[in-house]
Amino acid sequence: MPLKKDSSIYVAGHAGLIGSAVARRLERDGYRGLVTRGRNQLDLQDGGRVAKFFDEVHPDYVVLAAGRVGGIIENQTFPADFMDENIAIQLNVLKAARKAGVRKLIFFGSSCMYPRECPQPMAEDALLSGKPEPTSLPYAISKLAGTYMCLAYNKQDQVTRFIPVIPNSAYGPHDNFDTKSSHVLSALMARFHQAKVSGAESVTLWGSGSPRREFIHADDIADACVHLLMQDNAEVELPLNLGVGADVSIKELAELIAGVVRYEGRLEWDLTKPDGAPHKLLDSARIQSLGWKPSIGLAAGLASTYQWYAAHQV
Ligand SMILES: NC(=O)c1ccc[n+]([C@@H]2O[C@H](COP(=O)([O-])OP(=O)(O)OC[C@H]3O[C@@H](n4cnc5c(N)ncnc54)[C@H](OP(=O)(O)O)[C@@H]3O)[C@@H](O)[C@H]2O)c1
Repeated sequence: MPLKKDSSIYVAGHAGLIGSAVARRLERDGYRGLVTRGRNQLDLQDGGRVAKFFDEVHPDYVVLAAGRVGGIIENQTFPADFMDENIAIQLNVLKAARKAGVRKLIFFGSSCMYPRECPQPMAEDALLSGKPEPTSLPYAISKLAGTYMCLAYNKQDQVTRFIPVIPNSAYGPHDNFDTKSSHVLSALMARFHQAKVSGAESVTLWGSGSPRREFIHADDIADACVHLLMQDNAEVELPLNLGVGADVSIKELAELIAGVVRYEGRLEWDLTKPDGAPHKLLDSARIQSLGWKPSIGLAAGLASTYQWYAAHQV
């Protein structure tokens, strides 16, 4: 069924970084059938309630942007919860969507699923060719399970088009800026902001600053989702990488963010802390061959994200 302005589209995780960007984009484009439920209305770890919701609502499309997400410290402190929560949410939603006859669904995998020592840029067929980075292994395995579950449904049923996409590190409004649980970009922004406000002379950062990462604005991810929901000919035998095609070192990123925040103190690096994977750049040629490309550059994306953060942080 082609995507129409009155199609019912369930966005799970609409309050989060990626889900809020998708919901914002659908509303902006005049889609009137957006369906959302907060965690307090529908806990996606509760299989019975998820099945009942799909029986009652029967959405035409699903964007599954709910899950347990976090940076290195969170991944290392709560490996069991990352595995448990993500697997439960994915199993409940994918299973209920399949039973309710949903034909098209977007699932978010993660670049952590790729092997730690992966040839760069990482192409989709490199998945499962080696062991992922150990610090995020349980998260990576939970995301691999969801990704390959989508592909298995497509293969067995022949009617579903459950599309697993693999965005690289996302950022934007509604990101998690809690410095203990967040990803590197939002953590740096919050720490430099706090250091500027308190007048701190230096900020100490984890690791060497040498790992290279690729960052994609959540609005670009939302743009790709709408593009994929509208397209009927996208093949779904492999997941689709979703990146911007350029990376920066963590040191370069820190300097860029310090500039945006206007923090003028020193940046110091704690070499006793782990770096994580050395390099994570996606090969996004396949999604680009489907007619999509990103439009938000890192400098502009950081500036607008900082504006949002400064206006919303308590
Ligand atoms: N952020 C990235 O860099 C990135 C990169 C690649 C892939 N992804 C994937 O993209 C998806 C979205 O990530 P994100 O960064 O947008 O995450 P996020 O900002 O943490 O948002 C996750 C959303 O899921 C909801 N949620 C979590 N557990 C739930 C439950 N049991 N029942 C109902 N809702 C629940 C959260 O609700 P509350 O607001 O109530 O907590 C929140 O709205 C995840 O699957 C993640 O693995 C993220």
